[in-house]
Amino acid sequence: MTTVRLNSTDNAVSFDTDALVVGVHTGPDGPRPAPGAEKVDEALGGRLAATLVSMGVKGRPGEIAKLPTFGALAAPLLTVVGLGDAPEGDYDAEALRRAAGAATRALAGTSRVALALPAADAERAGAVALGGLLGTYSFTTYRTTGEQTAPVAELTVLSGAGGAQAAVERAATVAGSVSLVRDLVNTPPSDLWPARFAEIAEQTGSEAGLSVEILDDKALKEEGYGGIVAVGQGSVNPPRLVRLAYSHPEAAKTVAFVGKGITFDSGGLSLKPSASMDWMKSDMSGAGAVFGALVAIAKLGLKVNAVGYLCLAENMPSGSAQRPSDVFTSYAGKTVEVLDTDAEGRLVLIDGIARAGQDSPDLIVDVATLTGAQIIALGWRTAGVMSNDDELREEIVRTAAEQGEAAWGMPLPEELRKGLDSPVADIANLHPERFGGMLTAAIFLREFVPDGVRWAHIDMAGPAFNKGEPHGYTPKGGTGAITRTLVGLAERYAG
Ligand code: BES
Ligand code: MN
Ligand code: ZN
Repeated sequence: MTTVRLNSTDNAVSFDTDALVVGVHTGPDGPRPAPGAEKVDEALGGRLAATLVSMGVKGRPGEIAKLPTFGALAAPLLTVVGLGDAPEGDYDAEALRRAAGAATRALAGTSRVALALPAADAERAGAVALGGLLGTYSFTTYRTTGEQTAPVAELTVLSGAGGAQAAVERAATVAGSVSLVRDLVNTPPSDLWPARFAEIAEQTGSEAGLSVEILDDKALKEEGYGGIVAVGQGSVNPPRLVRLAYSHPEAAKTVAFVGKGITFDSGGLSLKPSASMDWMKSDMSGAGAVFGALVAIAKLGLKVNAVGYLCLAENMPSGSAQRPSDVFTSYAGKTVEVLDTDAEGRLVLIDGIARAGQDSPDLIVDVATLTGAQIIALGWRTAGVMSNDDELREEIVRTAAEQGEAAWGMPLPEELRKGLDSPVADIANLHPERFGGMLTAAIFLREFVPDGVRWAHIDMAGPAFNKGEPHGYTPKGGTGAITRTLVGLAERYAG
C-alpha cells in the first residue's frame, strides 16, 4: 500500500524524490507549463516546452512524457502529464485526479513520487492525492511468474494550500477503501464465496469500528429472507446477509446502503452463455462498494449514522437450484415468481431493502451490477440512478459528479409496471420485453421499498469492472465504482 504525505514547499526543483510530476497544458504553439511547473521549467533553462514539442507531446489529458533531469533538479526523473486546455477559472478536481492517476500509473516501480500539480486549495490537493493513490493500484496476488513491479511506496503531494493536510488524509482513507473494493472484485470466486466475504467484512469492518452482524443460511431461512435463500440454494456455498453499522453520538440522520453481492453469477438454471460469464466474479461489486464506503465512513468519523447490508449469494445451477416458475415469499411478505434465474440481483436486493427499512433510515440507496441494459443505455462508464424521489435522484447524481464518478438520472415510467404482473404470484422477476431493462429492474425493486421511505437505486453493471485498457486512475478489472459516491452522500447527511 502506498503512503501519502503533504509537503508545503513551493520549490519542487530542490525536492528530494525519485520522480517529480508536473502538468502541462495544450497551447497554440505547443505545451505550456501548468502552475507548479514554472520553476521546473526555469531550472531547465526554459526549454521544457521546446523539448516536449520535439518529443511530439501536446499536453492532452492523460498524455505522459518522462525526461531525465541530468542534475538540473533534485529528482533524477521528471514526469510530465497532460492537463488539456488551461481552465478559465478553478481546475476541475476530476481532471486533476485523472492526471495524477495517469502519472502514478506510468511510474509503477518508482519508489518515491512527488506531485507538483496545480493544487491551489484543499479540495484540489485532496484530488491530486486521491487520483495519485488510486493510480498506484495493482493486483498481483495470483502472479508467480513474470517481472514484478513494486507499486509506488511513497507519494508526496506538493501544496501550500490551507486545509490541505485534512484533504490529503481524507484521500488516503477513501483510496484505502476503493483499493479494498477493487481487491474483492478482482479476487476469483474460488476464493471469495459468501461466507468468506462475510468473514472479511467482519474482520476489516470491526477493525474500522463498525459493528457487524452476519446471518447465515439457517438464520436467513428462519427469518424469512426468501429472495436471498432462493438465489443461494443452488450453490454448495450458502448465502449470507451481513449488516454493518456505524453510529455517531451527534448524528441527526441515518443513511442505509444495500449492495448486491453475487460472488459469482452463472445465471443459475437460466445459464449465461460463456462469453457473458467470465467476468461475473464482479457481480458482488455493489456489496463491495457498500462495504468500502462503510469502512471509510467509520474511519473518517462522520457525524452520521450509517448502516450497510451486503446481500451475498452465489448464483449456480444444480439439483437444488431454484427453477424458472418457482415462487418464494420475500422478507417484505410479497410473493415473487422467478421466471428467469439470471435476474437474481433484484431477488437478493429486495430482502436487503426491506430489512434496511427497519433501521428507520432517512434514505435507502441500493447499489448493484444489475442489468446488461444499463450498459446498453449508458455505456461502460456511466451508472444509472433511479429513485422514488426526484430530489434524491438529483442529489445522488450531483454527489457522484462532485466525487468524480459518472452517473445519470433515469426515469421509472409507470406503464412498465404491468409487465411485471404474474399469473400466480404478487409479482414476476422478469418483464416480457427487454427494452428498458434497467428501468423495469428498478420498478421491480421499488415495489419492496417500505412505505414513505426515500429510496434510490444505482445500476453500475458497466462502471464496476473495466474490461478495456487502464485510463486515468482506473485500472483494468475491478474499479471500486460508486464507493466514493456513497461516502460523499454520507458526508452530505453528516452534521
Ligand atoms: N449480473 C447480471 C447483470 C450484468 C450484466 C452485470 C453485464 C454486469 C455486466 C444480472 O444478474 C443479469 O444477469 N441480468 C440480466 C437480467 C435479465 C435476465 C432480465 C440481464 O441484464 O441480461
Ligand atoms: Mn444474473
Ligand atoms: Zn447478476
